[in-house]
This record gives sequence, C-alpha cells and structure tokens, in this order.
Amino acid sequence: MTQLSARPGTIPATIAGIGVYRPRRVVTNEEVCRHIDSSPRWIERRSGIRTRRFAQPDETLPEMGAMAGAKALADAGADPADVDFLVVATMSQTGPASGRRGALPEAIAARLGLRAATVGVGAACSGFTVALNLAAGSVRSGASRCALVIGTERMSDIVSPTDRGTAFLFSDGAGAVLLVPSETAGIGPAVWGSDTRLAEAITVGPTREPDRAGPEPTLRMAGNSVFRWAVTALPGVVRDILDRSGLTVTDINAFIPHQANMRITDAVAQAVGFPESVVIARDIADQGNTSAASIPLATERLRTSGRVQRGDLALLLGFGAGLSYAGMVVTVP
Ligand code: UT7
Repeated sequence: MTQLSARPGTIPATIAGIGVYRPRRVVTNEEVCRHIDSSPRWIERRSGIRTRRFAQPDETLPEMGAMAGAKALADAGADPADVDFLVVATMSQTGPASGRRGALPEAIAARLGLRAATVGVGAACSGFTVALNLAAGSVRSGASRCALVIGTERMSDIVSPTDRGTAFLFSDGAGAVLLVPSETAGIGPAVWGSDTRLAEAITVGPTREPDRAGPEPTLRMAGNSVFRWAVTALPGVVRDILDRSGLTVTDINAFIPHQANMRITDAVAQAVGFPESVVIARDIADQGNTSAASIPLATERLRTSGRVQRGDLALLLGFGAGLSYAGMVVTVP
C-alpha cells in the first residue's frame, strides 16, 4: 500500500480521530427562494446544493465546535486532558449570534475542559487546512503531542438572506480532527498560499441591511471571479500536492475539496484526471458550503457511508477568500 513519508528529523504526525456537528434545521432551496429572485432548479444546477443547515440560536459557534471536538476525541479514544494545542478556524465569529464571550478558541477549550494552548485561524474557507498544517507542524516539531483542530461556522449570521449571489450557497456546521505523533506519517506536506490580486473578491464588512436593526458584518462575493479562479488555479495546486507527497493520481483513494460548489469540484477533478476509482466528496448537496467546516464534514460523511475506509489516502484542498488555498494528502482516521 502507498504510504506518506515523514521529513527526516521530524516526528511523524497523523489524524487519530474525526468528529462533526450538523445543525438540526434543514433548509430547502424552496425556503431560500422566498427571499431571492431565483428557483430551486437554478440553485441545484449551478451549485449542486439541494439542502443546507442553518444553526438555531442555541447552536452557537463554540457549542457546535465543542460538540465536533468531543466526537473527534471520542473517535480517537483520547482524553481532553491529553490535548495540549487547540487550533480553531472560523470566518463567522463576527456574526451577531455567534454565542461568543471572549475569544472563540478559549470558549471551546472551556466547554471541552481542555488546558491546552489555544489559537484562532481566520483563513476563511481555507481555514481548516491552514489550521491542520499549523497543528501538524506543531506535532512534527515536538512542540505539541496532541493537537485538536476545529472548523466551526455560522455562515447564516454573516450572509444576507436577500443577497441573490450568496444566500443559497452558504451553510452552518462544525468539524474537528485530533492529531497525534505516530510511527508513520499520516499527514503529507502542505501546499499553501494566496493570490492577493483577487483579495477583494470575497469580503466581510459592515452593511446596513433593510431587514436588520443595524450594520452587521455581511459577506460579499464576486462569485463568478472566484469560480473562474478556482477552476483555473486549483488543478495546479492539486498536482503540486501530489508531487510534494511523492504520489500520483492513482495512489489517492479520495478527493475531498472544500465544498464550495459542485461544479468547481467536478471541474478540478476532471482537470487533474483522477481515475474513476477515486471517491469524490459531494457533501455540498445536502450540507451546502460551510467554509472552514466543510472538509471534515465531507470526510466524516464519506467514512460513515463506507465509501472511504480508515487508512485510505485522501487529498484535502481548502480554498476561498484571500484568495487563499491550502491542501495536503492525509490518511483517513
Ligand atoms: O467558499 C468560498 C469560495 N466561494 C466559491 O468558491 C464560490 C464560487 N462561485 C460560485 O459558486 C458561483 O459563481 C455561483 C454559484 C455563486 C454563481 O454561479 P455562476 O454560474 O457564476 O453565476 P453568475 O454570477 O455568472 O450569473 C449567471 C446568471 C446571470 O444571469 P445572466 O446575466 O446570464 O442573464 C445572473 O443574473 O445567473 C443569474 N443569477 C441567478 N439566477 C437565479 C445569479 N444568481 C442567481 C440566482 N438565481 N440566485
């Protein structure tokens, strides 16, 4: 079986467990179309999305993040006391109902009973894979021995329900993985970076919405510019990830990109030339685009459905505002 290799002189890091939280409320395309000039058919055809999840008031950012984190700990058979580093990625912390009190990572650490060092990552839809690479580096260097990585998002807080370009796309949820040292590497070298020429293509800034009491942080996106960048730039990023890992497309069992748009996933997979045997993550159909939570959510769905097995090699690829990207090959826990 093909394996990842660790850089000489470093401690191999691997993912020991995964956990997710999917909010209770399922929102259909019909419901979204009550507020925008669109149709369920258009939304499904242009994005692949049939339903998404919107968090209720009690499903706060720290609450959802902690639930996903607790499940990742349980999946790994680890104790909260083992965790010495917590990395939390989100872009929706500025939302009005995020449930934040103090810093988000600390709020999650408190719920889980951790005594870990904590840090927040704000790399938008690349947040999960950026956080994963930071945590992996920490384990590889010996700075931490058990690192919890969480992506948690309430995109419904920062997306206007009347913005026709974004209202149907984004969704809420959380996902987490636990990293530990191991005999063999389970996390390959990352390829990460940004194309700041398109820094203004996705922004979150204060906007006075007619249906809201005051200025609230609202996401604005030049969707078509992002789409064109993604399908043009990302195949090369995937090839770089494979090269740096010493792998080819036939070594990979699953391709799990950020769930931005089903058409982006399809276009990138086709341009890279993955064989039929590679399982492609399509969690977006029922879960929408959950930004920093989408990759662990999609990974968990593939594992739960039996379409990927523990030990399989999955190529993860985050991308989004910045425009940023970060990806690596990992062994599925
Ligand atoms: O997760 C972070 C990164 N984000 C992304 O990766 C998102 C990338 N972008 C996208 O996924 C796509 O750009 C969208 C799904 C957001 C939009 O799809 P598109 O194919 O790029 O649409 P468009 O903006 O180019 O608009 C095409 C047509 C226009 O009509 P005309 O000018 O061709 O007559 C729009 O007015 O679709 C129309 N349109 C809509 N029609 C029905 C735009 N939004 C809608 C809508 N319902 N909601």
